Amino acid sequence: MTGYNEKNNCLYVENISLEQIAKEVGTPTYVYSTENIRNQYEKLQNTMRNVLPADHQPMLCYACKANSNIAILSYLHSLGSNLEIVSKGELHRGLKAGFDPSKIVSTGVGKQKDEITELLNAGIHQFNIESLPELEQIQKVANEIDKFANVVFRLNPDISGGGHNKISTGRKCDKFGLSRNAVFKAFAMAKNMSNINATGLSIHIGSQIFEVETFKTAFKKLPALVSDLRNEGHTIECLDIGGGFPIVYDNEQLLDLKAYAQWVNDIIVPLDTKIIMEPGRYLVGNAGVLLSKVLYVKETEEKNFLVLDAAMNDLIRPTLYDAYHEIEAVQNRNASSKTYDVVGPVCETGDTFAINRDISEMSAGDLAVIKSAGAYGFCMASNYNTRPLPAEIMVNGSNYEVIRKRQTIEEILNMDIIPEWINS
Ligand code: LLP
Repeated sequence: MTGYNEKNNCLYVENISLEQIAKEVGTPTYVYSTENIRNQYEKLQNTMRNVLPADHQPMLCYACKANSNIAILSYLHSLGSNLEIVSKGELHRGLKAGFDPSKIVSTGVGKQKDEITELLNAGIHQFNIESLPELEQIQKVANEIDKFANVVFRLNPDISGGGHNKISTGRKCDKFGLSRNAVFKAFAMAKNMSNINATGLSIHIGSQIFEVETFKTAFKKLPALVSDLRNEGHTIECLDIGGGFPIVYDNEQLLDLKAYAQWVNDIIVPLDTKIIMEPGRYLVGNAGVLLSKVLYVKETEEKNFLVLDAAMNDLIRPTLYDAYHEIEAVQNRNASSKTYDVVGPVCETGDTFAINRDISEMSAGDLAVIKSAGAYGFCMASNYNTRPLPAEIMVNGSNYEVIRKRQTIEEILNMDIIPEWINS
């Protein structure tokens, strides 16, 4: 994996050993490779450059829900990325990272009034609208503060796509997007709204999608729809084709990015619109690992348990989606392997990172990494069991920086308030 290598029987991120990071920063800690992020960004951009014509290059909007650390955002901004956000909090992160608001796209089914106000005041590029009441709300708020909103309508194409039921978003039964009929209704409504400029459509069918055919099937819903909307006099000058590009967690066959780009070229480019893409996981997923220490090796009649100091509150993907993450020893990497259940300290059986996994034999105090944890890792972490949020580290060649301090227990406790009447 780009950015990860082995030296002296020890795992390194670029030129820094994970042993050194554990010693200096402690565990559990998320560690990210800058080189891996850059590599992924350039791979995506270059594939598009090679396949799509120069005048139809996509506006790449990093879906920062995948990893919203402001250092990561700043780095992607420095590479030329734009931004997709889903909340006011992400807007604030994006602005702090230096993104130009006019390059920010706002998505999500539950945009709140105060969020809409901030997004309008900031002057974002567009709102991707998911329902008719949302359209009415944006018109109302924009009118009140005398602003103008560019909007696109998210089509629900009724297609199943994505690595897990919980992250498939394009089926009729999902909460996302508008049916074909509702899209027509939305455009007609928008025409009579004083503060709305409807510019196009968006589509996002799910995450971790491996089959290029799934994207193709979704894209194929667009030409007839665009043509019918144009025939009704609507302007379609922007198509946001979403994210969903997969990464390797295990030994999956990766989506052929070139084939994907070819379908964009064949189906979307002829519609002659601006094209937006919203990659999240693809840009950061394989860049990160969760570095952890073995607390105990518990051997029972049934199993060998590796009890780590990381838990489901730090990385919830295995618990929530039964997601596979590779787990490796950081030191003594050529020790003979042993079969383990890898678990955390949280009081739930679901706090399990792997079952019956062959890993180099480990002892208490050894270090392990849970790999491919750069996307939907830290950003989904919680304080369950009053466990402080882990630190985050960014490695760049022979340097590393703490890009988020480890939370302290005091910081967690300070959020709670005891009402006076309880002790009076
Ligand atoms: N655009 C929209 C509108 C989205 O909802 C998402 C992800 C993306 C773009 C980026 O998708 P990506 O390129 O990262 O697949 N927590 C889950 C994934 C949830 C994805 C939510 N939406 C996981 O850990 O697998």
